[in-house]
Amino acid sequence: MQKVSYKGWCTLINKLLVSLFCSLFLLSGFQLYAKEISKEAKIFKKCAKCHGERGRHKAFDRSEIIAGQDVSDLVESMKFYKDSKFEARGVTKVMAKYIKQLSYDEIIALAKYISGL
Ligand code: HEC
Repeated sequence: MQKVSYKGWCTLINKLLVSLFCSLFLLSGFQLYAKEISKEAKIFKKCAKCHGERGRHKAFDRSEIIAGQDVSDLVESMKFYKDSKFEARGVTKVMAKYIKQLSYDEIIALAKYISGL
């Protein structure tokens, strides 16, 4: 059997450590990427209760189908709900409740997401 020298062990362990760090680095990169795409998807889960999993239900038979609408239209609708100061009642109030918690950045990101559904 061939005897592995001390130097041999060192290079072997070095190689192992390097590949371990490389995979950890890659893994964390992927995790960040996954987080990036799932943030809007996560918010949309709440919306899906009424608008459907893929945004294709007419919520309470009142809203338009929101999937595939123009980003600017979606942003406009959502800003309307967010900014509405009037004492909204019924369904409009329901929508406002969900949108008011979102920041404008989140609204824009969400609009892009819904538009692409
Ligand atoms: C409890 C049910 C419900 C939930 C949850 C809900 N919506 Fe709505 N949504 C409605 C209803 C009902 C309307 C129509 C309201 C009206 O007529 O004023 C509407 C309207 C809209 C519109 C305007 C559509 C159009 O063009 O007519 C958009 C955009 C929208 N919702 C996005 C969202 C987003 C984004 C979320 C999640 C953050 C969400 N909704 C959560 C019920 C809901």
